[in-house]
Amino acid sequence: MMFFAANVQAQKSPVYLDAKLPIDIRVKDLLSRMTIEEKAGQLNQLSGGAFTGPALNDNGQKEKMQLVKEGKMGSLLNVLGSTDTRAIQEVAMQSRLKIPLLFGYDVIHGYKTIFPIPLAEACSWNLPQIEKNSGVAAKEAASAGVHWTFAPMCDISNDPRWGRVMEGAGEDPFYAALVSGARVKGFQGSLKDNDHILSCVKHFAGYGAVEGGREYNTVDFSRVQLWNKYLPSYKAAVDAGAATVMNAFNVYDGIPASGNKYLINDILKKRWGFKGFLVSDWGSFKEMIWHGYASDDKDAALKAFKAGSMMDMESKVTVKYLPMLVKEGKITMQEVDEVVGKILYFKFKLGLFEDPYKFSNPEREKANLFTAENRSIARTAAAGAIVLLKNSNNLLPLKKDTKIALIGLYADSKADMFDFWVAQGSSNDAVSVLEGLKSTFPNLMAYAPGYLSDNSTNDSLIQSATIAAKTADVIVVNIGISGKMAGEDRALAYPQISAGQISLLKALRTLGKPIVALVSSGRPLVLTEAEPLTDAMLQCWILGTEHGNAIADIMSGDKTPTAKTVMSFPYAVGQIPVYYNHFNTGRPTTDDPAGNWYSRYRDIPRDALYPFGFGLSYTSFAYNNIKISAAKLKSSDKLTVSVTVKNSGNKSGEEIVQLYIRDYAASVVRPVKELKGYQRVTLDPGASEVINFTIGAKELSFYDADGKQMLEPGKFAVMIGGNSRDVLSADFEME
Ligand code: NOJ
Repeated sequence: MMFFAANVQAQKSPVYLDAKLPIDIRVKDLLSRMTIEEKAGQLNQLSGGAFTGPALNDNGQKEKMQLVKEGKMGSLLNVLGSTDTRAIQEVAMQSRLKIPLLFGYDVIHGYKTIFPIPLAEACSWNLPQIEKNSGVAAKEAASAGVHWTFAPMCDISNDPRWGRVMEGAGEDPFYAALVSGARVKGFQGSLKDNDHILSCVKHFAGYGAVEGGREYNTVDFSRVQLWNKYLPSYKAAVDAGAATVMNAFNVYDGIPASGNKYLINDILKKRWGFKGFLVSDWGSFKEMIWHGYASDDKDAALKAFKAGSMMDMESKVTVKYLPMLVKEGKITMQEVDEVVGKILYFKFKLGLFEDPYKFSNPEREKANLFTAENRSIARTAAAGAIVLLKNSNNLLPLKKDTKIALIGLYADSKADMFDFWVAQGSSNDAVSVLEGLKSTFPNLMAYAPGYLSDNSTNDSLIQSATIAAKTADVIVVNIGISGKMAGEDRALAYPQISAGQISLLKALRTLGKPIVALVSSGRPLVLTEAEPLTDAMLQCWILGTEHGNAIADIMSGDKTPTAKTVMSFPYAVGQIPVYYNHFNTGRPTTDDPAGNWYSRYRDIPRDALYPFGFGLSYTSFAYNNIKISAAKLKSSDKLTVSVTVKNSGNKSGEEIVQLYIRDYAASVVRPVKELKGYQRVTLDPGASEVINFTIGAKELSFYDADGKQMLEPGKFAVMIGGNSRDVLSADFEME
């Protein structure tokens, strides 16, 4: 009798709720039950909490909940926490078909335990660590009701004026691609448990090339650059299985990315076979009107849809006009089903139809956030991100009983240590430089701020700083810019050390004591004036919760610096953009230093102050004996390149050995250097190791303007070194 009743029940229950059936069948069944308004609703995403973009005729919370109840909302962003996500999901469960909502959030470098900013994290060149960090961020977010992070940002940028360089992996396409892949894997895992979340490859495509580094500005670069420089990082993230992709705000080739068929339909979907779904950036469908590409809201909805864009974040044009566009025959129901089906697919995949509250569990939230284990992972990650830029007379590491005077407002300002994208991290939970150093160096005897929050200073601040520093053995000065100046809408025309901080350094210099500078910033700053006023410099970036502890670990030598910068440090603001993988130009140099008519500045050097790949250790490494396995190569051959790396200092250390290539003549010009591999090697003093790299067609090919992969015969150079400037080189020829 019981069996009979259950059976009747099962027959009544709609196919899409049968968890035993394949997802495709469930999606098809659900689509067959949906009205066009409900389908358009799945493409609607609004902010249910904080605003991370401008209000575009915002509906209030009440109206938003009404839309949820009517099944006219597919996703909300900025709603988080097990309690709030459950409460709103309960409203979605009152809708006709009970389609669960997706909760998206910017989990950029941690959720509650905050990791180094992505740019700093990338300086570790440590992919397993990067994947682990994203895994921790995903688990914390997933325990707080979040299903989906809007990360990783895969935009390549050469321009430290752009505030968002902090979110990427630097200027090199090869390395950024590896990092993007690791981040996606860390966030998503296999998506089978509730410890992982959907990732989102953003911003597709080319946002990192905003002119002049000005936020939301125009982008205009060639297709050769698109294929070779900008696309590889997004592609690697897609290849790693990223579930979603976000449209960029900018235009590419005169067409806004949200309406750009070439980018979305031709490249992302057809060429790369992307099967997931796209989400717009905040209001970017509607912004096509301001760009001068769409005439009104309805036109924007049509153009975005036809280009292959899908979910509409905050423009509200799709939910409003898609039903009308279908009725008018401009968009077919089949096209709509294809798109909506992709979003539903991931709701099924996450198991939300079986349990819409799967991620909203207060016990899990309590147990998994900000744990001692997560903090310890963050501390390791933070120490691995600090780049040693200068270390005269081996000033660092400092003995733990060194008498230290600590100067600098940021050293004692937790709020300034945190950037814009800190999710639910609380700066009160973060370890400041003052706290971190105090617990490691018991003789930290004085602290003075030295400058004001706008980075200016005055006589009395300078005087108290010099008094504080008078009896110290070593002066540690925290310079840089506020963490709040890192992230979206934080473009700066002058990414440099302020005049106030330079005056402070000059005053401290008169004391004749060794000076260690700690540079806090979300981007490489111009350090040219500060550098000679210091004996040692650590680029500390913005390291997250464990900021101060990680700096103390490095300064004391408990950990040895291994990081290498993934963005060049400009010599002067006027030199920006400066990057290592540039073209040669027709007039790269002259043998006569006084000669005229070659590519240079008359007032400053042409090269960066610190090049891509640069970072010192507490020991030194000598490179010798570069060897190639053959001077001539067939296109199907592999070439082995080896070099001997010796620890020529007197401490153990780890080196990141970098391999670059150059294609001397090709059908489109190639950069003077391109990173194609790297290896880590740990050596004791005096020890050496032969490091081998293998290169072949993959490393030696490039894309033409149509995205065709080219492998051409001719002469190549292969270069190996500890940074992109100081390399050993050997030539070979491909037949
Ligand atoms: C705008 C940003 O460009 C994007 O990266 C972010 O994910 C969205 N706002 C949502 O906050």
